[in-house]
Amino acid sequence: MPRISRRKLLASGFAVSIASLLGHTGWIESDAPAQAETEPGTPHVVGIPEKGEQLLFDFGWRFTFGHGADPAKDLGFGFGQSDFSKTGEFKFSKAGFDDSAWRTLNLPHDWAVELPFVHDDAGTGDSQLRSHGYKPLGRRYPETSVGWYRREFEIPSADAGRRIWVEFDGVFRDALVFINGCYIGRNNNGYVPFRFDLTDFLIYGGRNCLALRVDASFGDGWFYEGAGIYRHVWMTKTDPVHFDRWESVVRSAMDGNAAKLSLSTLVQNESGEAVNCKVRWAILGARGEAVAAAESRTQSIAAYASASFKATASLANPALWSVEEPNLYSAILAVKTENEVRDTERVTFGIRTVVFDAAKGFFLNGKPLKIQGTCNHQDHAGVGAALPDAVQQFRLSVLREMGCNAVRTSHNMPTPEWVDACDRNGMMMMCETRQMSSNPEGMEQLATMIKRYRNSPSIILWSIENEERHLQNKNEMAEQGARMAASMVRLCHRLDPTRLVSAAVDGDNEQGVSVALDVIGFNYNLNLADEFHKKHPNRPVFGSETSSAVSTRGVYTTDKLRNLVSSVEGYWGTPEDWWSFYGAREWAAGGFAWTGFDYRGEPSPYGWPSISSQFGIVDTCGFPKDFLYYYKAWWRTEPSLHIFPHWNWHGREGDEIPVWAYTNLDEVELMVNGKSLGSQKVPPLGHVDWKVRFEPGTIEARGSRDGKVVLSEKRETAGPVATLRLTSNRNDINADSEDVAILAVEALDSQGRRVPIADNRISFEVSGHAKLIGVGNGDPNCQESDKEPIRSLFNGLAQAIVQSSFEPGQIQIEASCRGHAGARLSAKIIINSKKTDLRPAVPVLPRS
Ligand code: GAL
Repeated sequence: MPRISRRKLLASGFAVSIASLLGHTGWIESDAPAQAETEPGTPHVVGIPEKGEQLLFDFGWRFTFGHGADPAKDLGFGFGQSDFSKTGEFKFSKAGFDDSAWRTLNLPHDWAVELPFVHDDAGTGDSQLRSHGYKPLGRRYPETSVGWYRREFEIPSADAGRRIWVEFDGVFRDALVFINGCYIGRNNNGYVPFRFDLTDFLIYGGRNCLALRVDASFGDGWFYEGAGIYRHVWMTKTDPVHFDRWESVVRSAMDGNAAKLSLSTLVQNESGEAVNCKVRWAILGARGEAVAAAESRTQSIAAYASASFKATASLANPALWSVEEPNLYSAILAVKTENEVRDTERVTFGIRTVVFDAAKGFFLNGKPLKIQGTCNHQDHAGVGAALPDAVQQFRLSVLREMGCNAVRTSHNMPTPEWVDACDRNGMMMMCETRQMSSNPEGMEQLATMIKRYRNSPSIILWSIENEERHLQNKNEMAEQGARMAASMVRLCHRLDPTRLVSAAVDGDNEQGVSVALDVIGFNYNLNLADEFHKKHPNRPVFGSETSSAVSTRGVYTTDKLRNLVSSVEGYWGTPEDWWSFYGAREWAAGGFAWTGFDYRGEPSPYGWPSISSQFGIVDTCGFPKDFLYYYKAWWRTEPSLHIFPHWNWHGREGDEIPVWAYTNLDEVELMVNGKSLGSQKVPPLGHVDWKVRFEPGTIEARGSRDGKVVLSEKRETAGPVATLRLTSNRNDINADSEDVAILAVEALDSQGRRVPIADNRISFEVSGHAKLIGVGNGDPNCQESDKEPIRSLFNGLAQAIVQSSFEPGQIQIEASCRGHAGARLSAKIIINSKKTDLRPAVPVLPRS
């Protein structure tokens, strides 16, 4: 496996090694003088050796269910009371323990998405299974709520003397972690990364074993949260003299046309001798060219102590990070004692200014910009909470398509790959913590989130809570709420003085939590936002959560018996209701619609058999609903026009059908089978609509600007399904057992028109070195398996996610179904799985 280092790749999507980037392996002094301004683009070469390793620890895990109530089915764990009485006795975490009956899998893994749906409406409110999408998790489902993971691995003798950690990006939930028979610690929330120092526990030159008991009986939220090790795991190895985790910070401040960089870090000396250290920073531009450098003074660090190091640098005319041009820089840090580099680290950062102005709204780099945001949970069709990194990028592109420029990580700390994708793609972020409390756990969660992501330019706001109903408004706990919030805001400011703090508040924002906030967020309550602004003209306001307009993709008649919601006319409102408010007020910074994607759980507005929400602007697969085109019209600048519904209303001949158009053009004329129904002027931030008596044929919207037709769009009555079309979001993927292609299947009639009501059952077959890891169709009421290679089309569409292996080559995917009179219809596509530089990973061992 090639050694491409990703060592502590903070907030970065670059999977390139320091050495390959710079072409050197020694500490070579930079041409760029320390603390000096450097012309951007000047190709200085800076050599920083690779030191330390960060190994992906995702492959080759073993998994089995435990039991939340019966110790005999839980590896005997908790049978009596002596489990923790002697260190070293946890046999299941020793190499050689018989796990032959356990399943082998790669991470990320979510066992909840693999479980069947269970109709159980016992309990109240958030405690119901419906909140989490009717998956059997919780103390009443002990047989499916506890999972065990094991992974054996070797540590070479040469590693003796290094510091070695296991790092988890997120485990749902309550993980007990064991190594080589010893308990090493616990983490009991589902979103915050945690790590353990393995150094003392390892067998050097031998076989080791890590084991986890993961208990998803409790939840952290009221939405689908998954279960298991659903984010990446890493093994990190460093010298005893090393950078402390998430302590390297680059802050920038504009001074005229230059950016002044404040560079700081913390070095730990975990050796038995005092060391004299200095730290050097090489600042690289987007193409890896050195643009500045800085060096700290030398300091002595006592044995087993730490010290902070600082320096400054300046960049003339820096390339700013913005929504349109997300320019990124990297700081490569190296800590050196005498003539030896002991550790290196990369910090990716961006230079931009953010201002929330109470009278004029939001400004990025001095320019006014409305926050055109969406709130999103973290699950996706087919894979639940365990998203391959490429799915994050896919989801971001879907949101980008509608003109969304900001996301809110409702209601929890996001995975690093989501933040990386936002940094790289110019998507702003309001980053939210899960537990709102100034108790030690709440503060720890918040501190970790801030330290982990404070170098990320995409983050424009921290959020300390969502709708803490007891702690705001005139509730009896409002005063405690104000004090808790003040402590949390102080913590945010201390760890990150460059960003403001907000929260997603349901209420008038006059007391409780809101008292402590820098920026006021309104969830819904548009009238209260207006009143608040009048009363407090100096406090910036935005819509922290708005809309909640529900719709079912491709459905145009609300049917309460079938849990369907019309996409025309609105049910709980339309996007226009909120955007015509925030989009039209200069003082308002913009807002975040609930939600970008549909998500599992909270099956609003209905319960069983719905298993996912219908709030999304796109469905759980990312297929657009019609509301998307409202945003596209008013959030993007290029001309756009969308007419709906479809025109397949067999049996409803003569009925009046509402026809809507979303456009940013001046006027739209509607043609029905060639006859004009007249033109309508498009109101600002609005739409136009007609009532049309259905007869098969064509409806056409002709949109004009300045009197000229600029765009036209048709809906035609399609015939029966005659063929399938299979498309992939990418033709080439990486042969790394991680990358995925996301495929869409569509049903077409004999003239190649989409059949918008098709519900054929599609079978998928994958040949070549790849596997199908999930299927979906965006139907909030579909209870077909996410993992079987079969999925019905929902209103003409379905999705399949195919993952590469380590073997390069062609992957063929075939989608087939029965069509008219039982005829077999099929479509095939070939994608290439290309040899790639692999991320360094902990090797998978043959079974002992
Ligand atoms: C909000 C809440 C969200 C979601 C939404 C549904 O009150 O913050 O998590 O539950 O309602 O409309």
